[in-house]
Amino acid sequence: MYPESNRRIRKSPILRNLTRSVSFDVSKLIQPLFVVEGIKQKEPIPGLTHVYRDTPESLLKQVDSDLNAGVKSFLLFGVPAQKADSKFDYSFTSSQIAALKKQFGKDIFLSVDVCLCSYTSHGHCGILNDSMDHVLNGESVTALASAALSYAKAGVDCVAPSDMMDHRIRAIRETLDENRFFETLIMSYSAKFHSGFYGPFRVAADSAPKGEVKIKDRGTYQIDPANPMDALGSSLRDMEEGADILMVKPGLPYLDVISNLTREIPLPWAVYEVSGEFAAIELMAEKGLVDARRAHLESWTAFFRAGAQMVITYGARSAKEWMERT
Ligand code: PBG
Repeated sequence: MYPESNRRIRKSPILRNLTRSVSFDVSKLIQPLFVVEGIKQKEPIPGLTHVYRDTPESLLKQVDSDLNAGVKSFLLFGVPAQKADSKFDYSFTSSQIAALKKQFGKDIFLSVDVCLCSYTSHGHCGILNDSMDHVLNGESVTALASAALSYAKAGVDCVAPSDMMDHRIRAIRETLDENRFFETLIMSYSAKFHSGFYGPFRVAADSAPKGEVKIKDRGTYQIDPANPMDALGSSLRDMEEGADILMVKPGLPYLDVISNLTREIPLPWAVYEVSGEFAAIELMAEKGLVDARRAHLESWTAFFRAGAQMVITYGARSAKEWMERT
């Protein structure tokens, strides 16, 4: 039986709110942060309005202002000045974690991205073989586990591996447990696709594949956009290996994947609205073609509607203001 009027329930904002089945607020959003070693002043990032490459000092001010905007969850990306091929120094990012936790303690839930792409001279997410045509899995996983341990020692609440090597979740969980970091969570980028939407991020994190390297993209480790079964397999494996939170990334082009995986796998799911998706809306708004506020809120609604429990978005710090404006 059909309702005899569909419009009756759309009559007023009060009624529309009441009849909704999807709702969220800023407490469900995670704000990415970039902190860059060796820059004198914070720098804007093309396409990502109100997002910066922060200095260690401006990072603390930024988080303070984000707390005032209701944001309590963060995903930190550390960009060290020194790049290497195999022996990496995790101390810059670790010190930023320690400084944030010292100032804000339990007022924030701090995750850190665990990857090597901001650390390697060639920009790949792992260690290359000598002929620079293959990313070595075992060596990369060992380095990632040391990075995660260093961040856990600095006090991070959650490590978020985004590299897409095989079995990094197991290696990280084992390393954390051996060192008694039983309380440190792992948020796995378990369904991370080989996407063309990561452009603005790679400028921000200094992480695009570059130089002499023979493999020009991340196709040999990230998931093929046309292979949702691989996303299911990778996510099931990461659950078994000890991940606490799983992720789909990017968001909008993968709504079907979000919807299927959140039904299949009983863990909390994050969706990463990536830099290119976010910038697309911002650039359209700049040209007067869309209302940025409405387009962002609509995208986030889609992620929650599809089944996500949390959304990582560059707009978290604007969310409260946008939601209060009706
Ligand atoms: C690092 C990493 C990337 C993103 C998050 N972690 C880039 C990539 O894999 O190339 C993308 C985030 C974004 O575009 O907002 N491996």
